[in-house]
Amino acid sequence: MQTQTLPGTGQDVSRLILGAMRFGGSWSREEPVSASQRATVERIVQTALDLGITVIDHADIYCAGKSEAVFGDVLRAHPGLRQRLFLQSKCGIRFAGDPTPDAPARYDFSRAHIVASVEGSLRRLGVDHLDLLLLHRPDPLIELEEVAAAFTALEDAGKVRHFGVSNHTAAQIALLRSVVRQPILVNQVELSLLHPHLIDAGVGFNQTSPGPDRNGGTLEYCRQHGITVQAWSPLAKGAVVSGVAGPGVAPETAQAVAAEVARQAAEHGVSGEAIALAWLLRHPARIMPVIGTTNPARLRAAGQASEVTLTREAWYRLFIAGRGGRVP
Ligand SMILES: NC(=O)c1ccc[n+]([C@@H]2O[C@H](COP(=O)([O-])OP(=O)(O)OC[C@H]3O[C@@H](n4cnc5c(N)ncnc54)[C@H](OP(=O)(O)O)[C@@H]3O)[C@@H](O)[C@H]2O)c1
Repeated sequence: MQTQTLPGTGQDVSRLILGAMRFGGSWSREEPVSASQRATVERIVQTALDLGITVIDHADIYCAGKSEAVFGDVLRAHPGLRQRLFLQSKCGIRFAGDPTPDAPARYDFSRAHIVASVEGSLRRLGVDHLDLLLLHRPDPLIELEEVAAAFTALEDAGKVRHFGVSNHTAAQIALLRSVVRQPILVNQVELSLLHPHLIDAGVGFNQTSPGPDRNGGTLEYCRQHGITVQAWSPLAKGAVVSGVAGPGVAPETAQAVAAEVARQAAEHGVSGEAIALAWLLRHPARIMPVIGTTNPARLRAAGQASEVTLTREAWYRLFIAGRGGRVP
């Protein structure tokens, strides 16, 4: 497994991250986690460890808190496991109906909510600190001093070691950094061969197609300031290998990506998942893909990404398939 020192932490971590979004089974608060789902989580965590994956990505909301809770049970059952892992979680999204029935789904970066969210995560996980806390999605009502106070309170109490964001633009990160004293170390964003916009924005600049750059130089900003980019949905939920994508992706683009992925997989003697992830790993921003499978065979297939370094030509062939046409 490829590893890297996560800038700003001094900690060596795996380049691949295991995402815990589905660990709790369903998103219903009422439905308990089944024995078979618990066994699935045990197996996928063990597979990750066997592969050398040491970073686990949580959020307070995943499966309404059940993902953190079931993972906490795994930690309790395996003393010493916590020390081998880099644990990150996210906060700032609130469900509809919380706390009053008429409350809409919304974002909440108030000091009180951030602190309460982290305390809930620590309780469910059964740990005394998170290695990294991410603000999940930008809150238009962000009060910078509230976030600064929350981060400082959490850091001073030893509850969170490092801080970052998710789904934030360069300008939003710059604004946050202007007030928050802790370094922003990570920006976790959607990025894959079938969602290459963050990378494509820099290529399509000033072209009629694919249209205006809505990414605001975010990838470049992150690189300039040593902010590690983590890629969520790096396999586009399997579409990069199946060629069958959801809404928003042209069917012929998904098919072209899957065909090129399959061709390069055969050439290297690895899985298609490995090629799709190697495309992210090859980028000089040292992107860390966050893989969401709960299937050990698929995680092992993904782990083969560490064995592949794509040439510039191979990288571009995949990029061209994913962006739906040649570069300008
Ligand atoms: N920051 C954010 O806003 C945000 C948003 C979404 C997700 N995330 C994080 O990113 C992680 C990954 O997201 P994701 O699950 O959407 O990413 P993904 O790894 O692209 O997709 C995994 C999903 O695709 C399915 N799948 C189908 N074919 C597959 C194949 N050949 N290889 C791998 N998976 C295949 C998996 O099902 P099986 O389990 O049956 O394999 C699973 O449901 C999440 O767990 C979460 O930690 C963050």
